[in-house]
Amino acid sequence: MVDNPYTPGQIPRILAGRRAELRRIEDRLARVVAYGELGGPLLVFHAPRGLGKTSLLRAAERNAETMGFASAWVACSRERQVLPELVRSLQTALERSDAMPRGGAGGRWRKRLQSVTVEVGLPGAKVQASVASPPAATEEPIATAPIAALEGLLHDTATLVRRRGGAGLLLFLDELHTASADDMSVLLNTLQNLDGHREDNPLAVVAAGLPVTPEALTRAATFGERSAFVSLDVLSDEDARALLVGAAAAEDVTWSDRALQAVIAESRGYPYLLQLIGSTTWEAAPPLAGGQLDLADVRKGLPAARDQLAAMHRARWGAASPLQKSFLAAMAAAGVDNVTRAEIAERMGRDSRSISVPRDRLIEKGVIEPVGHGLVRFTLPEFGAFVRSLDDA
Ligand SMILES: Nc1ncnc2c1ncn2[C@@H]1O[C@H](COP(=O)(O)OP(=O)(O)OP(=O)(O)O)[C@@H](O)[C@H]1O
Ligand SMILES: [Mg+2]
Repeated sequence: MVDNPYTPGQIPRILAGRRAELRRIEDRLARVVAYGELGGPLLVFHAPRGLGKTSLLRAAERNAETMGFASAWVACSRERQVLPELVRSLQTALERSDAMPRGGAGGRWRKRLQSVTVEVGLPGAKVQASVASPPAATEEPIATAPIAALEGLLHDTATLVRRRGGAGLLLFLDELHTASADDMSVLLNTLQNLDGHREDNPLAVVAAGLPVTPEALTRAATFGERSAFVSLDVLSDEDARALLVGAAAAEDVTWSDRALQAVIAESRGYPYLLQLIGSTTWEAAPPLAGGQLDLADVRKGLPAARDQLAAMHRARWGAASPLQKSFLAAMAAAGVDNVTRAEIAERMGRDSRSISVPRDRLIEKGVIEPVGHGLVRFTLPEFGAFVRSLDDA
């Protein structure tokens, strides 16, 4: 028996597709390498859950490290303050890339990192700072102290990496939509300042988050809209096929055409589902080296995949408030992929303006997503059918 090479819920061993997206990141890095300058404005990938944002960033991280970048990774979360986490990630990046000086200089660096961690994390520090210093010519009074501290630190970290023979610093901010508006504002202002001396700052910042991320950044600072936003879509049939075939090939296992078509049809290009059904097919088989996965294996594995998907449906439903549930039920009852606001409101027996709160909250959580012209759809396949099957919906 051979190891199951599919990774539902984990970073894939091989990233399928996403060539254009990787190229966007590499273009940024090329600028840092060639000119030792800032790799452009904040680059933000956004998509609903499970589309492969983290996987993309991790693949870019691997590439960047082979190009000589020191990379820092922040998994933003509502439970923790983002900026102190960012500073800690810079320390890890320096230590891991061997750029941290030894002896006394290293000690001074660690002390400074510590003090900036405190400075950007002090509750109320931002408010105090904005009171102490006259508001700059921006739309709102903003705190300058944490911005200056972070700006200086990013500059010094990136130039230290460069001086020690590296290409520069690459900072990843995953789940950026969970950062507070204050933290986003400090971050955007810091990057804007670094851009003012672009030629002195050999670094690039790449972020990922749910589809609300662009709006949240723009709300935090109007110039946030000048970040580069790239949405991730489901994988094309060709890339879906490459995902399935590539992982198995590494274990010397092949797929029959019929089996591939069945999995691609069932998962509709949704990367998480491709990994999940790839995995359940494998477990159902399980193949020997040199073997082939066939349609019968796919069918045998599907109940396990559907159980897993149903558990995810139940978790999302369970986490919804009563009003959100009634919104979801109205959407599901419509029975079409893309549902209009008016139809949802009518089925809920409410005024169309009054459903904004549950709608926005569900979008924020990544349960539904807007698809233009006031339409929304579920982000998880079969969620509508699941809701229709419930007694209490
Ligand atoms: N391009 C890809 N090639 C192979 N597998 C992928 C690819 N993209 C995503 N996956 C797989 O899909 C699943 C979800 O990927 P990932 O965690 O990167 O998504 P995400 O967009 O970061 O989701 P979330 O919003 O929940 O954090 C993982 O199991 C991963 O293995
Ligand atoms: Mg992720």
